[in-house]
Amino acid sequence: MILRSTLLKPLAALTLLLLLPGCVRITLAWAPDRPRGAEATPVLLTEGDNTASWEARREDIRTVLEKEVYGMFPEDHTTEVIEHRLLDDEAYGGLGVYEEFDLRVTPIFSANGPNASGSFTMSVLSPANADGPVPVIMMETFCPRAAALPHRLAKGASENSGEMPGMVSYVFGRYICTPPLEMILNDGFAVAMVSSTDVVPDSKDAGLAALDRLAAGHDDDETRWGAIGAWAWVFSRMVDVLAAEERFDGERLISYGHSRYGKAALVAAAFDDRIAGAIGHQSGTGGASLNRRKVGESVKAITKSYPHWFAPRYAEFGGDEASMTVDQHHLLALIAPRPVLLGNARRDVWSDPNGAFKAAVGAAPVYELYGVGPITLERLDRYDPEQALSFWMRPGTHGVVEEDWPAFLAFLTAHFGD
Ligand code: GCU
Repeated sequence: MILRSTLLKPLAALTLLLLLPGCVRITLAWAPDRPRGAEATPVLLTEGDNTASWEARREDIRTVLEKEVYGMFPEDHTTEVIEHRLLDDEAYGGLGVYEEFDLRVTPIFSANGPNASGSFTMSVLSPANADGPVPVIMMETFCPRAAALPHRLAKGASENSGEMPGMVSYVFGRYICTPPLEMILNDGFAVAMVSSTDVVPDSKDAGLAALDRLAAGHDDDETRWGAIGAWAWVFSRMVDVLAAEERFDGERLISYGHSRYGKAALVAAAFDDRIAGAIGHQSGTGGASLNRRKVGESVKAITKSYPHWFAPRYAEFGGDEASMTVDQHHLLALIAPRPVLLGNARRDVWSDPNGAFKAAVGAAPVYELYGVGPITLERLDRYDPEQALSFWMRPGTHGVVEEDWPAFLAFLTAHFGD
């Protein structure tokens, strides 16, 4: 009997892993302690560069990242608050204030375009009795918003909102859906949560159909907007609303995401200077990890499994990554000098922690150009949350586990705490 129950969980977990091809790869390899292989290429700075010469190049780097990886972003947009509801000013046992915003967002790709819109709800939970404007962690997660930030009055809440099937948390970690809200509120941070898949669904057919509709007016198929870019753009639409409200600190809005949403959180911060910092946890290929000399998920594999995530041009670099004009350290460098944390796990080789570390090493000189640092990146397993370009590595696999959030909060408090 005892044997049965101890075996049951691991066996069921294994079954689930096999049932979810593409989400987790079981690997016998693990990431090294010290960086392996060549440095990030091409080098970002040359002798004599200064912040002015770097900033003069930022826009071009962004454009190449759009053309080669994420697809072209809209030229303009509108963000409308359709309704705002204060649902509970004593939520979570009196710890928080829970409110919701219904938003309509319209990307504008061409002045005369059809300009289709997307709609979503943003739930915000902020510390009760805050003394002044609070920093906000903006999040996109895997489960629906009303389950990720549960409240019985939340729009779309159901009887069992907030209860994750035990197996999912067992495989992907305790915080894969809902972060530790009490811990976050007690540390003085608010959480803003959306389901960005309400704007672009995360499936090939529905995702591509939504992208075609939203990006109408952009007529180059090669550089068509991808879902990762669109989800990053959703983070910026959250900023539009949060920055306009006095109780939230418009100077301390941070994008957070795990895995595919980690990619989006990094792109959001790289492309929108209003975002004060980012946490990209296990963001992998198309996120923090380098494309060249790839370990783990290749450009070929990711663009085949998820054709809606990136610009079609990115797929053409599969097997020929060396011909890309940019690599992912360019993305990280666009965030400089704003703080960024890259989360990793030892056995999550599919997301290539070594490649993310080398991208961080490649971007570090740009941080230092701004007088931030020195950035000390010598080993993958030495976490220093005070660093503006910080690298967190824990044992284990892909997911958001118990020890991740205290590490994230140490970084958030060091850079954005009161
Ligand atoms: C798959 C995909 C990754 C992605 C991950 C996730 O494993 O290959 O690129 O980061 O899903 O979002 O969990």
